Amino acid sequence: MKKKQQHPGGGADPWPHGTPLGGAPPGLGSWKRRVPLLPFLRFSLRDYGFCMATLLVFCLGSLFYQLSGGPPRFLLDLRQYLGNSTYLDDHGPPPSKVLPFPSQVVYNRVGKCGSRTVVLLLRILSEKHGFNLVTSDIHNKTRLTKNEQMELIKNISTAEQPYLFTRHVHFLNFSRFGGDQPVYINIIRDPVNRFLSNYFFRRFGDWRGEQNHMIRTPSMRQEERYLDINECILENYPECSNPRLFYIIPYFCGQHPRCREPGEWALERAKLNVNENFLLVGILEELEDVLLLLERFLPHYFKGVLSIYKDPDQQEVCPPPGFKASRPHSQLQSPQRSWLAPG
Ligand SMILES: *[C@@H]1O[C@H](CO)[C@@H](O)[C@H](O)[C@H]1NC(C)=O
Ligand SMILES: *[C@@H]1O[C@H](CO)[C@@H](O)[C@H](O)[C@H]1NC(C)=O
Ligand SMILES: *[C@@H]1O[C@H](CO)[C@@H](O)[C@H](O)[C@H]1NC(C)=O
Ligand SMILES: *[C@@H]1O[C@H](CO)[C@@H](O)[C@H](O)[C@H]1NC(C)=O
Repeated sequence: MKKKQQHPGGGADPWPHGTPLGGAPPGLGSWKRRVPLLPFLRFSLRDYGFCMATLLVFCLGSLFYQLSGGPPRFLLDLRQYLGNSTYLDDHGPPPSKVLPFPSQVVYNRVGKCGSRTVVLLLRILSEKHGFNLVTSDIHNKTRLTKNEQMELIKNISTAEQPYLFTRHVHFLNFSRFGGDQPVYINIIRDPVNRFLSNYFFRRFGDWRGEQNHMIRTPSMRQEERYLDINECILENYPECSNPRLFYIIPYFCGQHPRCREPGEWALERAKLNVNENFLLVGILEELEDVLLLLERFLPHYFKGVLSIYKDPDQQEVCPPPGFKASRPHSQLQSPQRSWLAPG
């Protein structure tokens, strides 16, 4: 029953159109910590599914034993560990408990969601704890062909363990190619904040220095670069009237072409995937809590992260995320928010 099922290679239809049903064990819901929905998002759920941005979810694997490529063993073990400890902490002396230790972690970081800060923290942590931090120089390619997926998965899988691989890339299905599914983590943020962050990042780079914008948008005209964001929104410039709010979903849905079509299918698959393969999806707005949870659940990677993050001596390395060059007037927040409304 508890044996891990191996299904190398995958079946004839690697992209089943139906989603697995009914496998979630009772009580799974209690493992998701729900952050109260921000009021402005109340209308947005069905259409855009950015409910994900308001949930701090840590998902401990559901028991889809019957499916090929089910949740990683680690998530099942952690779930059991937590289940036992919660009960016994309240009702009796705890037995000796061993926190399961994953040796393969993937952080497929979403752009403009604080990932620079987290990667800088990871660099410090990897020296401190001696894990293998594998980063990628490719920052602008999140979708891969089948061959590229295979090659990348092969590369990642041969990295010396314990490793933490990170790259801006849509979810990769390791078990589809016969690999061990690693444990995923990620951080997302309020989509409007993400839009603002991206708007300024494209123009002025970030706190890391001036040279950034030259790399990113070298051909941008000066009028466009210094375009006031209020004007951009009120005058319906394409950049501001089509804010690509769907952007986050494929990071969780995966590499299937349908994952890039805004719609219910991609959203449902993303949610399923978050449940099955992600240990934690944090929200940037609560970064300290996210770091604390990472420290608790992945101590071999993240022990001490919060004190590094808060250390005044590290402020240069780790400035507070969400640097802002300027903000739109507060009344302009509401037209932006209205993007989130159905329509
Ligand atoms: C946790 O509980 C399960 C059953 O609920 C039991 O089989 C398992 O041995 C327990 N694990 C520990 C470490 O106590
Ligand atoms: C990604 O960036 C590299 C240079 O950094 C560039 O050569 C390449 O064309 C870019 N690819 C895409 C898909 O934008
Ligand atoms: C895989 O690793 C090799 C050698 O380290 C490298 O040359 C190649 O570009 C990598 N491929 C991918 C897709 O990362
Ligand atoms: C991953 O691949 C396996 C095997 O092909 C498949 O059963 C599973 O549904 C896939 N999961 C996702 C999220 O694509």
